[in-house]
Amino acid sequence: MTTLDTIAPERAPVDAPASVELPQSSILATYRRAPAEFVAGDGVYLIDAEGRRYMDFVSGIAVNALGYGDEGLRAALHAAADGLVHVSNLYGTAPGEQLADSLVAKSFADRVFFCNSGAEANEAAFKFARRWARAQLSTKHEIFALRGAFHGRLFGTLAATDRPGYREPFQPLAAGIGIVERDIDDLSAALQTDRAAALILEPVQGEGGVRVLDPGFLRELRELTRERNVALIFDEIQCGLGRTGTLFAYEQSGVLPDVLTVAKPLAGGLPMGAILMTSEIADTIKPGDHGTTFGGGPFVASIANHVLARVSDPALLEAVAANGAWLGEQLREIARRSGRIRAVRGVGYMWGFDVMGTAAHVVSEAFSAGLLVCTAGEYTVRLLPPLTATREELALGLGILESVL
Ligand SMILES: Cc1ncc(COP(=O)(O)O)c(C=O)c1O
Repeated sequence: MTTLDTIAPERAPVDAPASVELPQSSILATYRRAPAEFVAGDGVYLIDAEGRRYMDFVSGIAVNALGYGDEGLRAALHAAADGLVHVSNLYGTAPGEQLADSLVAKSFADRVFFCNSGAEANEAAFKFARRWARAQLSTKHEIFALRGAFHGRLFGTLAATDRPGYREPFQPLAAGIGIVERDIDDLSAALQTDRAAALILEPVQGEGGVRVLDPGFLRELRELTRERNVALIFDEIQCGLGRTGTLFAYEQSGVLPDVLTVAKPLAGGLPMGAILMTSEIADTIKPGDHGTTFGGGPFVASIANHVLARVSDPALLEAVAANGAWLGEQLREIARRSGRIRAVRGVGYMWGFDVMGTAAHVVSEAFSAGLLVCTAGEYTVRLLPPLTATREELALGLGILESVL
């Protein structure tokens, strides 16, 4: 098998294939896969079975925050492998306790629940918020999400995900969950009944086209939810843990949620999610209200302790903020020069731009040129470089992107 050690590092990506048919797979075809089989990684590059290097501005869709082959992550994985891998949640282990303490110390939260993915984190958040709301008033149960939202594709979260193509084949969806326009009057109307329990939103919508929600809008929503006794849930599964240049995206608006979900980069590529909450919410949850076999096990939690320390590093966050602002400026320049981009949106290392044709076409052309980018809806191309990418590496990727456009 090809490993990192057998591939000579190169600065620039080379001759990626235009299109290669992959052999028939036994894996269920829920993804339209690009024609490459990746076998190794090196910093901001993924390397395929033929030794071709692709600059990766997808990062496992915001998972691989530390890039590939990171020494610190590798050491943490080795150290964790010498310890316990799994212990039932009937018992406690030190890595999970330490991780929960760190998340609490670094955020608005008082308590944490661990799980195994983003959608699972949101499912739990819905349960916790509804439990709390019911404790206020027995009629409270409705959960609202925003136009353009993506909160996952499990049964409850699908009802809070605003993508007709994902929803329609599975209707009727879970009851008591609805989508509302990103408009303060519509939200005010939706939340004014005695049924409203929770509002969930991404401070930066990811799949919905990379939309940074206005801090003023978030402040209004905070007031509204307080007034109506509705839990405010921030889904920072994609935009959290350093991606926007602060550890949590909410820090940039100053608006504190009641519940917050994270996942993607938390355990360095291992499956893990977390739900952070205030004591007011936590105090309504009793033993037996929720559970998980794997969530927060000692192996994944050990790795997450390492990742959390790394993505909390002020030097890394400053670099993401500064390089991210530069990346946005460069994208606007490319938009001006190429005339092929209609709008540019984003913050930190999370950017999207609307193209004239379909985003999938640009993604495919970029792939052929050795750059991995992904879509966020039909017309938006999304960039999610590793948080460790340098400005020079961002510039290299932008160069490929401009040539493709
Ligand atoms: C904002 C947001 N919420 C939830 C999810 C679902 O996470 P997972 O795929 O880990 O279930 C995603 C995944 O892309 C996401 O971007």
